[in-house]
Amino acid sequence: MTHVLHRSIAHHYPTAASGAGIVIRDAAGKDYIDASGGAAVSCLGHSHPDIIQAMRAQLDQLEYAHTSFFTTQVAEELADDLTAHAPPGLGHVFYVSGGSEAIEAALKLARQYFVEIGQPQRRHLIARRQSYHGITLGALAIGGRALPRKAFAPLLIETHHVSPVYDYRERRTGETPEAYGERLARELDDKVNELGGDTVIAFIAETVVGATLGAAPPVPDYFKRVREICDRHGILLILDEVMCGMGRTGTLHACEQDGVSPDLMAIAKGLGGGYAPIGALLLQDKIFKALADGSGAFQHSHTYTGHPLACAAALAVQRVIRRDNLLANVREQGARLSRRLQERFGNHPFVGDVRGRGLFQGIEIVADRGTKEPFDPARKVHARIKQEAMARGLMVYPMGGTVDGTRGDHVLLAPPFIIDAAAVDTIVERLGEAVDAAASA
Ligand SMILES: Cc1ncc(COP(=O)(O)O)c(C=O)c1O
Repeated sequence: MTHVLHRSIAHHYPTAASGAGIVIRDAAGKDYIDASGGAAVSCLGHSHPDIIQAMRAQLDQLEYAHTSFFTTQVAEELADDLTAHAPPGLGHVFYVSGGSEAIEAALKLARQYFVEIGQPQRRHLIARRQSYHGITLGALAIGGRALPRKAFAPLLIETHHVSPVYDYRERRTGETPEAYGERLARELDDKVNELGGDTVIAFIAETVVGATLGAAPPVPDYFKRVREICDRHGILLILDEVMCGMGRTGTLHACEQDGVSPDLMAIAKGLGGGYAPIGALLLQDKIFKALADGSGAFQHSHTYTGHPLACAAALAVQRVIRRDNLLANVREQGARLSRRLQERFGNHPFVGDVRGRGLFQGIEIVADRGTKEPFDPARKVHARIKQEAMARGLMVYPMGGTVDGTRGDHVLLAPPFIIDAAAVDTIVERLGEAVDAAASA
């Protein structure tokens, strides 16, 4: 009998006992290849000696100092490191303990910015359908999936949603990717105009949509057009790179590949690689300046903001990624993973699409390739795939509701950046068996 309120009360979870490299071993001695980094977290795999060493060294010095009394050297060094490698203008960092907290901070900072600069009438937030931004009330409110919002609807702030970039299902026959992106940009512009351009605070989007769409990348120029629209209306662009950022797509920030720099960027997961709970919000200099010239403080903080142990872990993770040139490996093994997935699933009767960037790849499961009809949600194909994969010693991150929040299934892959070619091949082989078993059951 467990006293833990687990994610699913009826489910029996194996006990994770140890980890090494890309493998987690359970208490019964069974090994699992971590092909999803948990939920796109473990970018350096498990038990990396250099990260553990850096964390030990920090513990030997100082475990904690409250940020209302002190700063710490490690928090300063990490902020120097993050801003030195950030997209242009993102010159300051606000620390939190995870993705949802980063999003909450982004929403509040965006609102406070406009209060500081004398535009308190700005009150609307625009996000996209089928997005996931976290589970706390603000993050849930901007999240674009109807089902998880339903029970909490009376508690949620008002938000507005436009279409995501969902090339596989929502780009029209004969429409080029560029024309599709333009159509989506116009939809955003129309929404802004409908609400009144000077009443909108921010547009928020995942650069590459992770958990809810299964590694769906933007089409060319989409974010450039979004950036133009935001600038024209004086709206802040918030990019949620909690899952797709910090190297996962082959560049440190996913938006580098789209040629845009956001006003606020949320990062987490791969920032600390699972070695400690840490997230961060990167902010443009103009936002910092508005606070500095205005009230002088962001009206937001947590007890564990800038925790020294978490900062030490994140700093070590980022240094190892650079020292070992791991982004090159993300690009190389990402290309191999994409190729192998195409080979295995390109003509699979139950896989409609293979997509992604770098080591952030997804497959969309369908009942019929021709019509793109999804499986009946009652069959819970995604859950079966997870079960079949675990039985074969493979961790992947499947999710249901891909199409509209209720129908559809996909599988997300996000293996550690240290992965090699042989492991990529094994992952695809085991995933193939798991999909075959689950879809035909
Ligand atoms: C894009 C995105 N934003 C925010 C979050 C929330 O992060 P956390 O679970 O650390 O609160 C997630 C988590 O999966 C995410 O994928």
